[in-house]
Amino acid sequence: MAVWAGIDLGTSGVKVALFGADDKRLAVAAQATEVSRPYPGWSEQHPDIWWDAVVACFDELAAGHTKSLAALRGIGLSGQMLGPVFLDRDLEPLRPAMLWNDQRALAQCGELLARVPDIGMRANGAPDPGIVAPKLLWLALHEPALLDAARLLLLPKDYVRLRLTGEIATEPTDAGGTMLMDCASGQWDDELCAAAGWSTDRLPKIGTTWQSAGILRDDHAVRWGIPRGVAVAAGAGDNMACTIGVGAARPGDGAISIGTSAVVNVVDRVFHPIPDKAVLTSAHAAPATFLSMGVVMSATASLDWLARLTGAAPADLAGEAERFAASDALATAPVMRPSLSGLRTPHNRPDASGVIDGLRQATDRPALAYALLEGVAFQIAECAAAQRSAGVPFSDIRLVGGGARSALWPRLIATLLECELAVPEGAALSANIGAARLARVASGDAATDCLNRSLPTASAFAPDRDLRQCLFDRFAVYRTLPISSTQT
Ligand code: XUL
Repeated sequence: MAVWAGIDLGTSGVKVALFGADDKRLAVAAQATEVSRPYPGWSEQHPDIWWDAVVACFDELAAGHTKSLAALRGIGLSGQMLGPVFLDRDLEPLRPAMLWNDQRALAQCGELLARVPDIGMRANGAPDPGIVAPKLLWLALHEPALLDAARLLLLPKDYVRLRLTGEIATEPTDAGGTMLMDCASGQWDDELCAAAGWSTDRLPKIGTTWQSAGILRDDHAVRWGIPRGVAVAAGAGDNMACTIGVGAARPGDGAISIGTSAVVNVVDRVFHPIPDKAVLTSAHAAPATFLSMGVVMSATASLDWLARLTGAAPADLAGEAERFAASDALATAPVMRPSLSGLRTPHNRPDASGVIDGLRQATDRPALAYALLEGVAFQIAECAAAQRSAGVPFSDIRLVGGGARSALWPRLIATLLECELAVPEGAALSANIGAARLARVASGDAATDCLNRSLPTASAFAPDRDLRQCLFDRFAVYRTLPISSTQT
């Protein structure tokens, strides 16, 4: 038996899963992680909480799955993107990472654009406060001593890999999210770095996503009962990892992921930037391809918000929404844009707040829950429309991530996109599967064609004729909702 591990370093939690041949799932361990929001618009996590969660997951697996860990041949990583980790000369983190949904660097986006007017065609998209380069400019203004002390800037999964192996490295899928890399060539760009006040000597070398970027340290191997000498793949950004996790590695293939954020990930043959629609484009985790990403900033994060507000569990709200959708009260539900962390694709309004239109005395919790799920689906449809109209090829799209467990989301999205949507088996673990596939290539046990192996379909959703008219009428109302600012 040979086993590979895939680490999914998410925003709301870390999952480590073990897979055998043919992506057969053997075991999963999970740990929740908190986001700290000390001021409005700020969103941070200290890198130590990621590492502690990874250790706790491996400890749990070591306690219950000794045989699988003894057969481990490689480890791969999928990481939440865009959150810079600043390390001092002892490789200790200097501050919490400002996450992908941190909004504080809004003013610096304009500054960056003024310095490099064509940045959107060279880097991964239009400047956005979630991206690393505007955050560097914000720190230069507010925490200059931090930048002076920083010897190295790493991305989240690269920091975890450093702790696993002792090696410093990155790879293009994640490095592309910094706006310091020229996306077409996959190399750091001196001019982009200078515009952000940074230098390439404080960045890791860019390696290859599916190659080994280090060997698991002996002390970890001993603690977890893993053989010595196990390869740790460079790994990928979470959007790329979950996309190859379902075998979407050829142009036109795609995966819509619904997690804390929702992303319409579509594989393209060429680097196809669409900065005017705030679509992100970066290297994909498969050879000779790029990934076009339409991003909804707050998906299950919005459901969590409603859950906190109402005291109901997110899964119960999703169930209520589903039952509500089957009732004849559908047209009476409010229309919502639950953009609680700003709007990226296609509006590029990181300052935008969420909107609810049509509250009534009769509006109950199921109606609100429905409106929320529908509002996320509307945003996904807007992303796909922006990508399609700019010529990104769409053919075989699958639905993945924790949100794919809901039966309502796929129905709404298939109807709005007017295409069939498959939810593959194990879709909730697609980032782990993608990471483990990269580990298989890095350990020398598979060629890169394992990255385009499809998973069996668990359920397929066709556009819903009964829902169609009402849904498109409501989409028309949604499009008229004002985009107003939360910033003062
Ligand atoms: C995409 C993005 C998010 C994170 C979530 O640009 O910022 O999807 O990758 O982890």
